[in-house]
Amino acid sequence: MEAAQKKGRYERIMTQLQGLLTKPGDPIARMATIAAVLSHKFDYFFWCGFYRVNQDELIAGPYQGPVACQVLKDGGVCWAAVNLRKTVVVPDVHQFPGHIACDSRSNSEIVIPVFDKDSQLVAVLDVDSTSFNSFDDIDRHHLEMIASMVFANQ
Ligand code: SME
Repeated sequence: MEAAQKKGRYERIMTQLQGLLTKPGDPIARMATIAAVLSHKFDYFFWCGFYRVNQDELIAGPYQGPVACQVLKDGGVCWAAVNLRKTVVVPDVHQFPGHIACDSRSNSEIVIPVFDKDSQLVAVLDVDSTSFNSFDDIDRHHLEMIASMVFANQ
């Protein structure tokens, strides 16, 4: 997808999500709304959803796409984003040490931390693509803003 087209699409999605998430609401319902909108707007979002932090486990939250691991114990891209407290972009998941392959069709991935109002890292937003090198700075920038909407207006 061309950069300008991708940027325009993210901007329209963010306007839509801002409308859907204006009122305070349950974070899980908000995650479900975000996953549904993203998944239906981007063809290359093969898997899109949230994992919630629960002590030493990441537990599957709302998602769209093929059935995924219910619990991530250690290692992998999602845990890397949690441990670094930063977005992790992986152009080729097969080169990422410890990558957890919930579905062998995934080839690239981006994981964004989700912080609550107290700056606690409570979840991650994870997107997988079947293409290599799907995620760039446009995805990173907009998905970070979208991830911050889970706890906005609360
Ligand atoms: N690949 C992730 C696991 C979750 S799935 O992509 C849905 C990881 O390495 O943490």
